[in-house]
Amino acid sequence: MSDTRHLLVADARRLPLPAASVDLVVTSPPYWKKRDYGLPGQLGQEATPAGYVEAVMQCLAEWRRVLTPSGSVMLNIGDSYHRRTLAGIPARIEAAAIGAGWLVRNRIIWAKTRGMPDPVRDRLAGRHEYVLHLTGRRYHYDLHGYAERYGNGANPGDVWSIEPERGLSPHLAPFPVELARRAIMLGCPRRVCGSCSTPSVRIIGRTADLDPSRPQARRAMQLAEEAGLTPAHIAAIQATGISDAGKAMQVQTGTGRNSADVRRLAAEAKAALGGYFREFTFARKVTTGWTDCGCNGPMRAGRVLDPFSGTGTTGVAADELGRGYIGVDLDPDCHAIATERGSRHLAPAA
Ligand SMILES: C[S@@+](CC[C@H](N)C(=O)[O-])C[C@H]1O[C@@H](n2cnc3c(N)ncnc32)[C@H](O)[C@@H]1O
Repeated sequence: MSDTRHLLVADARRLPLPAASVDLVVTSPPYWKKRDYGLPGQLGQEATPAGYVEAVMQCLAEWRRVLTPSGSVMLNIGDSYHRRTLAGIPARIEAAAIGAGWLVRNRIIWAKTRGMPDPVRDRLAGRHEYVLHLTGRRYHYDLHGYAERYGNGANPGDVWSIEPERGLSPHLAPFPVELARRAIMLGCPRRVCGSCSTPSVRIIGRTADLDPSRPQARRAMQLAEEAGLTPAHIAAIQATGISDAGKAMQVQTGTGRNSADVRRLAAEAKAALGGYFREFTFARKVTTGWTDCGCNGPMRAGRVLDPFSGTGTTGVAADELGRGYIGVDLDPDCHAIATERGSRHLAPAA
C-alpha cells in the first residue's frame, strides 16, 4: 500500500487542505439529477441547472485555492435529460467557468460504444461524456510524454475512445482507470519542488530519426545518405522549420534567428532532398533531461486530488504513475472500497 494515497471525508466545496498543495484535480462529480446518494450536502440534486452550475462553481473556486499556480482541473462531466430535453450542463459549466476567469483549454470527448441501457425509441442512446480541461494562464502539461504513449509522437487529438469498466458497487459510477491515467499523464508533473512548487518539466531534444514505416520518410533518408548530408544539415532543416528552404530564407532574413551558415546548409539540403526536405521537420524528439528550479530543496512527487473520489479510481491511476493522491468524498462508506483498492484514511486536518 502506498503511503501517498490518502482519503478524507469532506465536502468538495470545503476541503481540509492547505492552499497551493495539489498539482492537478481529476474528478467526476455526480451529474445533475442522476443519482441521489442520499447524503446531506451532496451535489447533483439541485432544483435547476443554474443551481447545479452554481454548486460546481463553488467547487472550482475551492479547487483553485488548493491548486498550485501551475495546477489545473480535468473535470469529467455529462449532460442530463430533463423534461425530454438535454439540459446543456457541460456548456453551462464552460460558460460559467470562463466568466470566473478559467480557460477551457480542451473539451475532450470520452466516446464509448457500450453504456447504460437507455430504453428510448425516439432518440439515440447517449454514448459520450466530456472531460473539460480548465486552467489558468500558465499550467503544467506534458504533451510530449502523452503523445509518445498515445500518438506515436504526434498530437493524438481530443477524442478518447475508452470503454466503461464494470462497476465495483451498484451505487457508484466509477470512471475507467484509463480516463484518470490520461488526465494525470497530461496534467500532473512527475516531480515538483517542495519549496517553490515549480514542476520539473522535460527538456526536449530533436533527433534525425524518421519513422521508417512511412515511404516518404524512407525516401528522405535514402536521398540524405546519397547526398552525404551531415547532422548540421539536418539541424539546419529543423532550424528553418518549414518545408521550403527558399521561403524560409525569405521569411527569416532580417529576424536574425538563423545565421547565414544555417541558411546555406538548409539550401544545400533542399537541393539534395527536394520535396522530401520537410520530412526531417517531423524527426522524432526525445527527452534529454528535466528542468530544475534551482532551489536545491527536496523534490516531491506530483499530487493529484479527486474531490468526488468514490471508489478511488483516480488513486489507482495516480499510484500506477508514481503520483501522490488525495481522495475526498462525503460518503465514508465508499471509502471502504477505495481502501480495498489501496488508499489510506487520513484524520481530517484540524
Ligand atoms: C460519480 S461518483 C465518483 C465516482 C469516482 N470517480 C469513482 O471512481 O468511483 C460521485 C461521488 O461524489 C460524492 N459526493 C456527492 N456530493 C459530494 C460533495 N458535496 N462533496 C464530496 N463528495 C460528494 C458521492 O458520494 C460519490 O461517491
